[in-house]
Amino acid sequence: MKKLAAFYFSGTGNTRYITEYLLNKLSASYECTLLDVTAAEGAERWMGQADILLFAFPIYGSAPPIPMRTFVHGYGQFLRGKKIILVETQYFFSGDGAAALGRTIEKFGGEVVAAEMFDMPNNLSDITIFPVKNGGEIAKKLAQARKRADKFAQRILKGRAHRRGFSVLSHGVGYFSQRKFWWKGEAEKRGRLKVDSASCVGCGLCAKNCPVQNLSLKEKKATPQGRCVLCYRCVNLCPKKAITLFGKVPPKTQYKGPAPRP
Ligand SMILES: Cc1cc2nc3c(=O)[nH]c(=O)nc-3n(C[C@H](O)[C@H](O)[C@H](O)COP(=O)(O)O)c2cc1C
Ligand code: SF4
Ligand code: SF4
Repeated sequence: MKKLAAFYFSGTGNTRYITEYLLNKLSASYECTLLDVTAAEGAERWMGQADILLFAFPIYGSAPPIPMRTFVHGYGQFLRGKKIILVETQYFFSGDGAAALGRTIEKFGGEVVAAEMFDMPNNLSDITIFPVKNGGEIAKKLAQARKRADKFAQRILKGRAHRRGFSVLSHGVGYFSQRKFWWKGEAEKRGRLKVDSASCVGCGLCAKNCPVQNLSLKEKKATPQGRCVLCYRCVNLCPKKAITLFGKVPPKTQYKGPAPRP
């Protein structure tokens, strides 16, 4: 059986959820391995053995997240001649989200053979204009995403998959509507993570779960270390809603992640 190695980054679980679902559909033809890019030391071994690679990531301001960019640059030399599938997740808009990483992969000599973008639940819980609604709305979005994944898997298995987001128009829309501004402000945004020390009870949950070890406990208070990659995991996890990132007030409702796969 052919081998597929899937590398993903997922702040709040959406990307992991739809990637696992997709791999399950592909498992009739591929022996699939799923690896988190923040803990994938020795990834070149998996890349060398695999017949096809998959990269999955959430979109931030029409740009791929820092851990995924770092990973692709770090392992770029192993991508030459490799066939690649891209999975991008978003709340509702990115323009060319999948291609934003795809073009970098192609510069390293990888061949993007399939790309899909999935609308998923919102995780920007401290932005009041995008309120998080757990429950029915999330279930509906996930059902639509699974349907899209079913079709995508069928096309991959038949060797007739599309490359969503790769048109010139999508490129222009993604760049001029968001990415251009995102690149300029990304470094500043990383410094915006705030812990309200009056609310923090020092439980350590955020520090334990941060994918890049950006939070540590000092005098029983969570303290950022300047490495935030904007994933929103801790904002949605803190039992005291003590952490904010883009917003100024704590989330009204935290995003609890996708429901278990049916
Ligand atoms: C910092 C940040 C920026 C985001 N920017 C966008 C965006 O430009 N367009 C969009 O549709 N969704 C955006 N989202 C929503 C996420 O892409 C979406 O919820 C994604 O599925 C989260 O995946 P994850 O749970 O695997 O982290 C953003 C989320 C974050 C945390
Ligand atoms: S999860 Fe919240 S309460 Fe717990 S240490 Fe982190 S910021 Fe403090
Ligand atoms: S500090 Fe929070 S938002 Fe930043 S990378 Fe860690 S878990 Fe994600």
